[in-house]
Amino acid sequence: MEVRLAKTAGFCFGVKRAVDTVYEQIKTGKTIYTYGPIAHNEAVVRDLEEKGVRVIESRRELERMQELPPERAGEVVVVIRAHGVPREIYELIREKGFVCVDATCPSVRRIHRIAERESLAGKHILIAGNPVHPEVEGIVGWCRGPVTVLESPEDAEKYAPLEGENLCLLSQTTYNYKKFQHIVEIFQKKGYNDIVVNTICNATEKSQAEARAIAAQADIMIVIGGRHSSNTAKLYEICRGECEHTYFIQTLDDLHLEEIPKSARLVGITAGASTPNKLIEEVQNYVRVNF
Ligand code: F3S
Repeated sequence: MEVRLAKTAGFCFGVKRAVDTVYEQIKTGKTIYTYGPIAHNEAVVRDLEEKGVRVIESRRELERMQELPPERAGEVVVVIRAHGVPREIYELIREKGFVCVDATCPSVRRIHRIAERESLAGKHILIAGNPVHPEVEGIVGWCRGPVTVLESPEDAEKYAPLEGENLCLLSQTTYNYKKFQHIVEIFQKKGYNDIVVNTICNATEKSQAEARAIAAQADIMIVIGGRHSSNTAKLYEICRGECEHTYFIQTLDDLHLEEIPKSARLVGITAGASTPNKLIEEVQNYVRVNF
């Protein structure tokens, strides 16, 4: 039996950069917070917690935090994670007298800049993505005018711009590439006056394409990632479409080898962008040894 691990499995560039930033900040000896969990992975968050890093769970929580007096300004650091945040969160952090360390992924910052620029130019911003995902909430928070989130091609079918309105279509970095193309086609057919900027992250496209290719050949496919990680959920959806025996696991404990047919010749493994390498290796070794 062969075990094939996707080369693109695990931390993407942006998440790695954000996690490294927090470890760097710990060395300063200041009080460190992250705005939201730094990665959708419990093991990573737990390790940081043990090192004294705390998580600000919501805007409300940030608002309720005590402002630092001027002589203590700078003692508290808030790290913005790779997903990014709305503009007003930066302002709120500064108003509190905290230092804001921005680890927003450069690919997400690019979307913020386009959203801000195009909405200031009068366009209605459309974002293909999940409206309750923090990345999308962040992008919405950079728009200076009307903004609509389209979750699916069906939403795009139903959407009708106002008379004479100009549109700018963007995407959440982890949005499914095929669905995005479908939305673009719907808009083209309807003849909307739009500009389209494909802001799906390359890392996502590559890992989705690789996962699809491996799953198409595999008898069993294992997808490792956090329960709340949207890119892991998408990898699972893609793999499940190609390989009936696809398993979504968070840790090694979720992997029950007795459920896996012994006749399997090829076991594929991939992992979401927030999955640490250590965990991927653990799963890989376990499958190799126990199969
Ligand atoms: Fe950035 Fe792409 Fe990762 S947008 S956070 S490198 S999935």
